Amino acid sequence: MTSIPEAKAPADEVVLEAIGLTKHFPVRRQLRDLFSNRHDAVHAVDDVNLTLRRGQVVALVGESGSGKSTVARLLAQLYPRTGGDIRLHGVSTKVKSGSAFRQYCARVQMIFQDPFASLNPVHTIRYHLERSLQIHGNAGDDLETALHELLERVSLTPPERYLDKFPHELSGGQRQRVAIARALGAQPEALLADEPVSMLDVSIRLGVLNLLRDLKERLNLAILYITHDIASARYFADQTMVMYAGRMVEGGDSETVTQSPAHPYTRLLIESAPDPDRLAGASEAAGEERGNGEPPSLIHPPTGCRFHPRCPVAMPRCSTDLPVPLEIGDVPGHWAACWLYDKAEVAS
Ligand SMILES: Nc1ncnc2c1ncn2[C@@H]1O[C@H](COP(=O)(O)OP(=O)(O)O)[C@@H](O)[C@H]1O
Ligand SMILES: [Mg+2]
Repeated sequence: MTSIPEAKAPADEVVLEAIGLTKHFPVRRQLRDLFSNRHDAVHAVDDVNLTLRRGQVVALVGESGSGKSTVARLLAQLYPRTGGDIRLHGVSTKVKSGSAFRQYCARVQMIFQDPFASLNPVHTIRYHLERSLQIHGNAGDDLETALHELLERVSLTPPERYLDKFPHELSGGQRQRVAIARALGAQPEALLADEPVSMLDVSIRLGVLNLLRDLKERLNLAILYITHDIASARYFADQTMVMYAGRMVEGGDSETVTQSPAHPYTRLLIESAPDPDRLAGASEAAGEERGNGEPPSLIHPPTGCRFHPRCPVAMPRCSTDLPVPLEIGDVPGHWAACWLYDKAEVAS
């Protein structure tokens, strides 16, 4: 490989951090609001902390509408943030457009759920990959070799079979591999993968996740893996963070979070995905339809713990006091934002 060097940076090095990251989308004002002083907003993401390290996958899990994509788009600098910070290698970073944005994109690349929508139907695979290599100055001396290497990286071989095809001539899994190859053309340090397999055929999801894992290891990439399927997080991610209604509710190493979930919401997610080993079969709806009740309004989110209206073990203070992250048991790094784990509560 000449154009895509193997990773040199140490594993575990922090690439990207979100600190108190917050995004409120203003709601279009209604006529009646003109006569009042209302400034409603969708509280899509509130006070999110997240650390992406080289050579590690962090899963961000939650049902639809919990704010996962907004976190990814904020980290990709596609939206301005309402509050908090994004640090790239420890440096606070806010970019909007132009060369600063391009430089940021070269280091942090996004992969979207729908590879068909993210590839341009009128252009060949060659065009997509060439553009990525050229924009980021990674074409090297021999463009053709660089293109071949990109396709080989994502196991689309022999490359010449794919280069001059159009997106519609490929399967969904092959298109997602092209989207991944295009992201690699930037030689990024971090990949933000927003439900990268949930639109793919069940039978090929594992193959694409295995490819991402292989890239993580060989290129020492930091990966954010967004999913509503907690079973796949256990399989694929080193760390798992659970998000509910715009807030992080639990985090820790994936094995612990999925095998000994602490937060009642995480437990609900796991119960609604009955077989944790059944990665391939986790259906779109399974985790979302069951469970008692509906996700809350994010315009007027519940006070205290946002999960309290649905929580089977809610206590009086849960409706008034915002829970802080509390350490769970003796597994280092395992925490839940839940008053059940307040020492004072446990003692009384
Ligand atoms: N551009 C936007 N304008 C207004 N509200 C938005 C926008 N994008 C997302 N939202 C709202 O923010 C919340 C979180 O959305 P999203 O991040 O897409 O969740 P997820 O990816 O977990 O399904 C939802 O209530 C959604 O309707
Ligand atoms: Mg989403």
